[in-house]
Amino acid sequence: MKTVITFGTFDIFHVGHLNILRRASEMGDRLVVGVSSDALNLQKKNREPIYSEQERMAIVGSIKGVDAVFLETSLEKKGDYIRHYAADVLVMGDDWQGRFDGFRTQCEVCYLPRTPSISTTSIIEITRATFAQVTREC
Ligand code: CTP
Repeated sequence: MKTVITFGTFDIFHVGHLNILRRASEMGDRLVVGVSSDALNLQKKNREPIYSEQERMAIVGSIKGVDAVFLETSLEKKGDYIRHYAADVLVMGDDWQGRFDGFRTQCEVCYLPRTPSISTTSIIEITRATFAQVTREC
């Protein structure tokens, strides 16, 4: 049984999230996903997520190929999570290229190319800009 683990905020779930989860699940027999807590997201990205940690976990957990989800509460605990879930492979998007090479002593580390032209940040920015424009026009 080959276990794959990956991490992320997965706020305003989009096709880039779907693609990385699909590719990660194809790399093993079991996919476990650490969903960043609201507090961790605030620390990492300096903003509150739009969807709460419970909502984000429910969405990610319902995706085909995802076998288990848990709340990631600290970036410092990645090694503990890898051990706890007996992960054989850590998968991350290549926006994190090189950042997790230290875990190669525990498991295989694989960076997958990001899906181009989409991110939670861009969705928020486009929505804000559109709302501002509509408000100006009214
Ligand atoms: N991801 C991806 N392709 C994208 C966006 C995200 O493969 N276009 C991957 C990231 O590399 C990460 C996972 O999805 O492994 C979760 O990313 P997350 O940070 O939650 O999503 P982003 O859209 O990158 O969020 P933000 O814009 O807030 O940084």
